[in-house]
Parts: sequence; C-alpha cells; structure tokens
Amino acid sequence: MPLVDSKAMLIYAQKNGFAVGAFNANNMETAQAIVQAAEEEKAPVIVQISEGAIKYAGVHCMFSIVKSLAERVWVPIVCHLDHGVNYDTVVRSLRAGFTSLMYDGSTLAFSENVEITISLAKMAHASGIPLEGEIGKVPDAAKGPLSVEDIKKYLTTPEEASVFFESTGVDSLAVAVGSAHRMKVQSVSLDIERIARIREKVNAPLVLHGASGVLDDSIREAIKAGIAKINYATELNKAYTMAIKQCLTKEQQLVDVRKYGEIGRERVKEVVRNKIRLLGSSNKAEEIMKEITGGKCIIGEGLSKQETIE
Ligand code: G3H
Ligand code: ZN
Repeated sequence: MPLVDSKAMLIYAQKNGFAVGAFNANNMETAQAIVQAAEEEKAPVIVQISEGAIKYAGVHCMFSIVKSLAERVWVPIVCHLDHGVNYDTVVRSLRAGFTSLMYDGSTLAFSENVEITISLAKMAHASGIPLEGEIGKVPDAAKGPLSVEDIKKYLTTPEEASVFFESTGVDSLAVAVGSAHRMKVQSVSLDIERIARIREKVNAPLVLHGASGVLDDSIREAIKAGIAKINYATELNKAYTMAIKQCLTKEQQLVDVRKYGEIGRERVKEVVRNKIRLLGSSNKAEEIMKEITGGKCIIGEGLSKQETIE
C-alpha cells in the first residue's frame, strides 16, 4: 500500500499501550529486512533514514527503496527523516516525498531550537506531514565513554518539554530520559518517573532515541509511561555487520555480494521481529489501518516474502 504518515499511528499506539518501532535503514538490504519483518509480524513500522544515510546513498535513492517496498506489502509503512539537523535536509526530504520528518535542534540554544522548529512545523503541516522535535539531549556513546552523570546532564525536564511542545506545535516529541546513542551493549535503564511527568505535561506521543543500549524491561516500562515511538539503529548495524563478518571469515573465497548481503538481511530481519514483539506492535497493522482510514480499509493477505524482494 502507499506510504502512510506517522501522526495517527503514534497517537493510537500511545492510547493503546504499545509503541511503534522506528528502524534505521542504511541500504537496500536493511530496508528490505525492516519491511519484511513488519509484514511477518503484521505490524506497523517506521523506516527511518538519517542524514548520514542520505549522504551515503542519496535522498531520492533511499526514499524510492522504502516507497517501492511499502507498495508491495499490506502493512502500514512510514518513511521518516531521522535527526534532520540541517534545515535544508528537512526541506529536501519533504520534497522527496517522506511521510514523516524530524528536526533535531537539540544542540542549539532553546530559543533557536524553538524558532527553527516552528518554521519547519509550519512547512511540514502545510504539506500534511507530521514533524518530530527534540528537547533535551541524547548523548552519543561513540564520542567517548559516558558515565551515568554525563547522561544525566542532558535529561529533558518536564517544564522545558511543556514549553517547547506548546510553542512549536510538533506532532511528537523526542526526549532525553536516560539513553545514549550508539551503545553496542544493552545495559542502561531509563528514568521512568521522568517520562511519566513529561507525559502529564505534553499531550503528544513521546519518542525514545538511543534504544539499542536500553534493557528490555525498561523499554516495557517506558511504553507504559507514554513512549510511543522507539528508535533502533545500532543494534541493526551490529547484526548486519557481524553476520557478514562471520560469513566472510568462514568463506574466504566468497566474492558474490548477494551471498553475504542475504545473510546480513536475514539477521537484521530477526532483530527487527524481536523488537516489534517487545514493543507490543505485532498484529496491530489492521487496527492501525482502520484508525488511519476511519474504518474504511479492507485488508487482505499481503504479498509473499519472495515478492517483497522481487
Ligand atoms: O535516531 C536513531 C536512534 O536514536 C538510534 O539509537 O544508536 O541506540 O540504535 P541507537
Ligand atoms: Zn536518535
């Protein structure tokens, strides 16, 4: 089916106590893995493309891959811009056809973040596309070792979240609640009480970034407290790379990119299926589509897994 936007999907997830997985795709194989996993789990999914992926593969190439994969399955798929830190990237992604956008002004001063977010929210809304904003800062574990104290320095306060949300008109809000980007091991727990206090003041779906390093129990608690979109990138990158490394170490003479690409894709698909189950979004595709279309959608069985590849 055509790509859908993320607005109604995330509101519905938050109301109904589950979260939608937002998985980063960096190439064709990872995009296929995410869409196939969603199809097999009968789940809604957000395929997200970062500025890094856009630099690597091009905005139109990545968008076209996600769009054509979505059109061959019956589960709702969103194509989302992840961490648009440059104004121009957000505009280019909107023009390319993305059905959900993020502007990340979290490294700027509060007032500048508000100002730019307002301008991009207006532009996105004029095109019927939702915008995610960010307040607080989710640190990057790849920039050096992070202590719990480092993570705490940047946590979102309920007060700033409320002012930011009311001033900008964003459709969903990314908050810093104890996670960090690019962690290779699941080891941290989130500040659940903080999430609940932010939720009391912000009437919108909350977004968790840096979920790869978060323990599963804490993810479950965060969803109960109001997180409705959960972002995974590092865990997928790790699965893809490790699978290919193992394969090439074993078969030193292998030169056919399809042989090991397929192995990486299968491993990523398994990771995504497990995350979808953890977030409680398995078997939610049909009710989400009814929500989006006002109950008019008739959903049949989808295309086979082989057809999503062809
Ligand atoms: O925006 C993407 C996610 O926040 C990635 O988080 O590095 O923990 O997978 P991760
Ligand atoms: Zn992130």
